[in-house]
Amino acid sequence: MEPILRMEGISKAFPGVQALDRVDFEAYAGEVMALVGENGAGKSTLMKILSGAYQKDAGRIYLEGKRVEIQDPYHAQLLGISTIYQELNVTFNQTVAQNIFLGRELKRKGILGSLGFVDRKEMERRAGEILKMLGANIAPNEFVKNLSVAQKQLVEIAKALSFKAKIIIMDEPTSALGSEEVEKLFEVIKQLKDQGIAIIFISHRLEEVFKIADRITILRDGKLVGYMKKEEATIDKSDLSNG
Ligand SMILES: Nc1ncnc2c1ncn2[C@@H]1O[C@H](COP(=O)(O)OP(=O)(O)OP(=O)(O)O)[C@@H](O)[C@H]1O
Ligand SMILES: [Mg+2]
Repeated sequence: MEPILRMEGISKAFPGVQALDRVDFEAYAGEVMALVGENGAGKSTLMKILSGAYQKDAGRIYLEGKRVEIQDPYHAQLLGISTIYQELNVTFNQTVAQNIFLGRELKRKGILGSLGFVDRKEMERRAGEILKMLGANIAPNEFVKNLSVAQKQLVEIAKALSFKAKIIIMDEPTSALGSEEVEKLFEVIKQLKDQGIAIIFISHRLEEVFKIADRITILRDGKLVGYMKKEEATIDKSDLSNG
């Protein structure tokens, strides 16, 4: 099976630090690939390159075998790559539906057939559908600022699905969640897998990685240490722990 994502020879330097040094990384549809390593190993940098937030210095990225140059975060989303941020960026009063469709507001035909008003009802209906599918008990017309961290994550996931994401990046999604919320997130992750989505899951918590991941990629000081299927994992845990 061809990986849905393949990153080859990715390098990235910041002043004074080689954050990534010729790193290879791949992920398969319908699987959870965990990305682990100590603080500063380069995990977030690798994912920021994938999500278009940073530009790589060197390397190649292939989606379903086709080479892509990811321009910026919006381009990444259009390519089917979505990132679940820990905190939604909400700078003004925004409803769940507005957040999900931000920048892509559905328009209703105005008088004389011109594309006129934002179709709030239709956006709420579609947002509600996706949230319901995720088992999220969140009203589409609720203000985002009133949601818990876990609920905001679900809104982000709903947004990813509305972009028809094929790859969803979760960078330490559990760090601000309680254990019950983590369980719920894992249920949602299983559902996303069943839909054929590739999940990239970054966590410092080994128990979580072993619970949810199908494969594990390990970075250390910007270099690929190795990757393995979970069943094969006989890992020196010092590679994974927090410093
Ligand atoms: N925007 C930036 N400017 C300068 N240096 C950066 C920047 N982003 C990351 N770095 C550096 O690049 C290296 C890799 O950082 P990165 O955040 O990718 O690590 P990480 O594996 O995600 O670590 P953590 O587990 O702490 O989140 C570190 O040395 C970090 O200080
Ligand atoms: Mg990080």
